[in-house]
Amino acid sequence: MKNLLKMLDLSTGEIIDILNLADQLKYEQKHGIAHKLLAGKTLGLIFEKASTRTRVSFEVGMYQLGGQPLFLSSRDMQIGRGEPVQDTARVLSRYLDGIMIRTFEQKEVEDLAKYGSIPIINGLTDFCHPCQILADLMTIREFKGKLSGLKMSFIGDGNNMMNSLIVGALKTGMSISVACPEGYEPDTQVLDFAKEYGDKFGMFRTPKEAVVDADVVITDVWASMGQEGEAEKRRKAFEGYQVNSELMALAKPDAMVQHCLPAHRGEEITEDVFEAHAAEIFEEAENRLHAQKAVMVKCLS
Ligand code: CP
Ligand code: NVA
Repeated sequence: MKNLLKMLDLSTGEIIDILNLADQLKYEQKHGIAHKLLAGKTLGLIFEKASTRTRVSFEVGMYQLGGQPLFLSSRDMQIGRGEPVQDTARVLSRYLDGIMIRTFEQKEVEDLAKYGSIPIINGLTDFCHPCQILADLMTIREFKGKLSGLKMSFIGDGNNMMNSLIVGALKTGMSISVACPEGYEPDTQVLDFAKEYGDKFGMFRTPKEAVVDADVVITDVWASMGQEGEAEKRRKAFEGYQVNSELMALAKPDAMVQHCLPAHRGEEITEDVFEAHAAEIFEEAENRLHAQKAVMVKCLS
């Protein structure tokens, strides 16, 4: 595996391989076993949007693997002043062993991979968030002991999270039902992919329909990074698209909850549901570290 650009590019086998390696690296880290698999390697981290988890877990993960992370804020780079991505890709390919990038357009990530000669890892675009989905799948498998046969429900925006969860769930044998308001559906590329899975994928208007008998309930913010100007409009559009105890009562009694964070309590999720499932949600946040270490090893070594 050279790049991680989007979940659509990964085979089921590749996803399972990453999850297995992530489990192994987590176990080894907890038992004090060092694994300097990326000694001497440098990974550039380009951020055109804010981040807590992605930045810290990539930096710490690279350090734990014996490599060097290099934080590159687009505010301080020429790319932030309009230097073309084609040129940035060719220059950075001569210094670095890999690049993680968080940006707006998926095309920018694909272009980095196209024009550069080093591995590219997508740390979130408007289209998808593959590193997060790998951590989510890892967490679900950790809590439920399996993925295949489980039902995932996603309530909210047809954004980067919903797009990548649909692909990740279907590729690992889960079924997935989503609920979103009109005009906030997932990307057509994802809907076309999901069509091949028949009734394993369902799209509904009401959260209640989507959540029935779910093993895992997932949500995300109503206004993502870059959509701050639409916050008020979105607050109205997403009214009712909230994971609360009334909704959770329709899922399986032992259903787990995942949230990529940051969460807006009182909007997409209530305080009580968030806190009742905090153990699962913060394990998910921790698993970003382990899953990304697995991705870095697969791509860079
Ligand atoms: N979930 C996630 O990607 O968090 P950050 O925005 O803090 O990186
Ligand atoms: N959908 C959110 C995810 C943040 C990790 C965003 O893009 O802002």
